Amino acid sequence: MIARCAFSIESDATSNSDQEIIKEARNLFSFFHPTSWLDTLAFTVPVFYFPFIFKFVNPFPDSMYKLWNITDDIMKLREKRGVQGTDFVGRLMELKKEVASSPNADHHKALNDTNITAQGTVFFAAGYETTANTLSTLCYELATKPDLQDRIYEEVREIVGRGGKITHEAIEKMEFLEAAIQENLRINSPLLVQNRVCMKDCEVIESCYYL
Ligand code: HEM
Repeated sequence: MIARCAFSIESDATSNSDQEIIKEARNLFSFFHPTSWLDTLAFTVPVFYFPFIFKFVNPFPDSMYKLWNITDDIMKLREKRGVQGTDFVGRLMELKKEVASSPNADHHKALNDTNITAQGTVFFAAGYETTANTLSTLCYELATKPDLQDRIYEEVREIVGRGGKITHEAIEKMEFLEAAIQENLRINSPLLVQNRVCMKDCEVIESCYYL
C-alpha cells in the first residue's frame, strides 16, 4: 500500500515478499532493530543529542542506499518517458515543474531531484515499519481482548455487510475501530521520541492539549 502511494508500485507485500523494494525495506528495519534498552539508547542518544557525529560516521546500512537508488531510478525513468504519475513522487515532480516555471521561484530552489528522491525514500521507509508495527500490536491486543475484537468485528459487519467492499468512506465510519487504533498507538507507540521543538504556544484541541 505504501509503495503504491509513494511510487505506484503494486508490491502486494503479504503474498510476494521477494520484490526488491520489500526486501530492502525489510533489511533496513532488521538493521535498526533494537532488542534491549541499551540498543535503544545506543541508537537514539547519538541521533537526538549528538547528531554532529553523523558528519564522521555513516549510520545507514546498504539497504538505505538501495532504497534511495530505487526511488531515483523511478524518477529518472519517468522523466525519460515523459510520464509523471499521481503518486507522492509524481506530485513532487509536478511541483518541481510548477516552481521552475514560476516567476517567484527563488525561495523554492531547494526542490531539486535529490530532494524529491530523499522525500520519496523517507516517505516509503517512514510509512512501512510504523504501519506494520501498529497493525501487529493491534492484532496482539485484540487477540488478548476478545470482547473488543468482537465489537470491532460487529462494527465492520454492520458498516460493510457480508461480502461488501471495504472503501475509504466505509472505514471513515468505523469509529470503534479508529478508537482501538488510537488507543493501541498510545499504549504501543512505534516511535517513542518526538524531536520537534514547538516555537510558539498553541492549543491543539480546545481546552485539552497545549504545546
Ligand atoms: C502508525 C503509523 C505512523 C506513525 C506512528 C508515525 C509517526 C511519525 C512520527 C512520530 C514522525 C516524526 C514527526 C516529527 O518529527 O515531527 C513521523 C514522520 C514522518 N512520517 Fe510517519 N508515522 C506513521 C505512518 C506514516 C506513513 C503511513 C507515512 C507515509 C506513507 C509516514 C511518513 C512520514 C514522513 C515522510 C515523516 C517525516 C516528516 C518530515 O520530517 O518531514 N508516516 N512519523
